Amino acid sequence: MLDKFEPGYFKLKYSLVEAVLSIFIAISGLVLIVLLIKYVTKKKPKKPILSGSAAHTWSGLYRFSKVEIENAINYGPERKNLGRGSAGNVYKGILPSGQVVAVKHINKSNTSDSFTREVEGLSRVRHPNLVCLFGCCVEGGEQYLVYEYCSSGNLAQHLLRNDPVLTWERRVKILRDCALALRYLHHYIDGCIVHRDIKLTNILLTENMEPKLSDFGLAKMLGMEESKVFTDVRGTIGYMDPEYMTNAKLTCASDVYSFGIVALQLLSGQKVFELDLDARDQLTRKAKDVSMNKRPPEDLEDPRLKGNVNKVDFESILQVAVLCVAKSSKGRPTIDVVFEEMDKAWKNTVAELKAQRGMSSSATPLSLSSGVLSV
Ligand SMILES: Nc1ncnc2c1ncn2[C@@H]1O[C@H](COP(=O)(O)OP(=O)(O)OP(=O)(O)O)[C@@H](O)[C@H]1O
Ligand SMILES: [Mg+2]
Repeated sequence: MLDKFEPGYFKLKYSLVEAVLSIFIAISGLVLIVLLIKYVTKKKPKKPILSGSAAHTWSGLYRFSKVEIENAINYGPERKNLGRGSAGNVYKGILPSGQVVAVKHINKSNTSDSFTREVEGLSRVRHPNLVCLFGCCVEGGEQYLVYEYCSSGNLAQHLLRNDPVLTWERRVKILRDCALALRYLHHYIDGCIVHRDIKLTNILLTENMEPKLSDFGLAKMLGMEESKVFTDVRGTIGYMDPEYMTNAKLTCASDVYSFGIVALQLLSGQKVFELDLDARDQLTRKAKDVSMNKRPPEDLEDPRLKGNVNKVDFESILQVAVLCVAKSSKGRPTIDVVFEEMDKAWKNTVAELKAQRGMSSSATPLSLSSGVLSV
C-alpha cells in the first residue's frame, strides 16, 4: 500500500481524477450530439413518400386524371380536333400552366397494344426532333396520351399544297433533322429503336417549321445483341420495307427504307397512298431512272418548286434516297451515312443561300423569306 504522504500517492490520485474527468467530458459530448440530432430532425418534419405530383407519375411521366384531360381539351367553346389516326382522335388542349398540348384519345378497340407501347417507348426517349410525351391518363376504361403540341401540323399538309409551297431549303432541313432523330433512335443506348412508321403524317412541324418525328406506337426495341427481330408486320403499306413485308424480319434498315420514300416524296411532291403499292413503285422506278440519267431530273422534280431547287443537292439526295429504297436491306445505307449526306446537302444549301444573299441584296433569291437561315 502507498502511504498518503508518498509522492506516488498524489500521482495515482491525479491520474484517477483525469480519467474520471475525460469520461465525464466524453459522455456529455455524446449526450449533446444526440440532443442536437433530435433537435435538427424535429425541425424538419418528414415528407410523405408519395405526395402531390409524385403520386401522379408513372414511368417518369405525369399521370393525368380524366378531369384534368377533360379540362385541358374543353378549354374553348368547342373541342379542336387536330386529326384522326388509326389509334384514335387527337385534340388540342391547354393545361392550367398555359402549356398547349395535343391529346390523343385512344380507341377502345386499340387500347392495350398501342398505348402501352407508346408510353414505354416514348417515356425514355428524348430528342429535339422527336415529339415529347408529357404524360398519360388511364381512367374509367379510357386511355389518353398527352404530347407536346406541334402547331404547324403534319408534313403531308404542307408538302401537298400549293400555297404556300414548302421551299427547297425547308425540305432539305426537314430531311436532315429527321435523319438526325432516326440516327439517335438507331443508336439508342439500350439498343436500336426501330420507329416502324416513318411517313409524312408522322413528321410533325413546330411553329418554326422544325420537324419532329411522332408516333412510337409501333416502335420496337431491339436488344444490343439482336440485329433483327421477327415480329408481326405493322406499319403503313406505302412506306413499308418490302423485305419486312414478306418475311417480317424487322431491322433498322426498314426505317431507312421508309425514310427513302419520304425523301423521294420531298423531291417530287408526290403522294404515296397508304394502301397503293403501285404509286410507290412508280415513284421508286422513276427515281431510279433519273438517278441513272435515263430520264431528266425535271421528270421527278416537284413542279410546285418551279425550278427553285439546288441542283447539286437534289442530285445527292436523290442518289441516297434511291439506295435507301433498295429492295434488299443489304443494299441500303446505314442511318449514319444517310445523315451525313443530308447534313452535307443542308450545309451546301445554306452556303449557297448565303452567297446569293451576299451577291444581291435587292434580288429575291430562293425563299429567303421563309427565314430558313435564321434557324
Ligand atoms: N403532337 C401533335 N401536335 C399537333 N398535331 C398532332 C399531334 N399529334 C398528332 N397530330 C395531328 O393529328 C393527326 C392524327 O395523328 P395520329 O398520329 O393519330 O394519326 P396519323 O399519324 O395521321 O395516322 P396513323 O394512325 O395511320 O399513323 C396527325 O396527322 C396530326 O396532323
Ligand atoms: Mg401519327
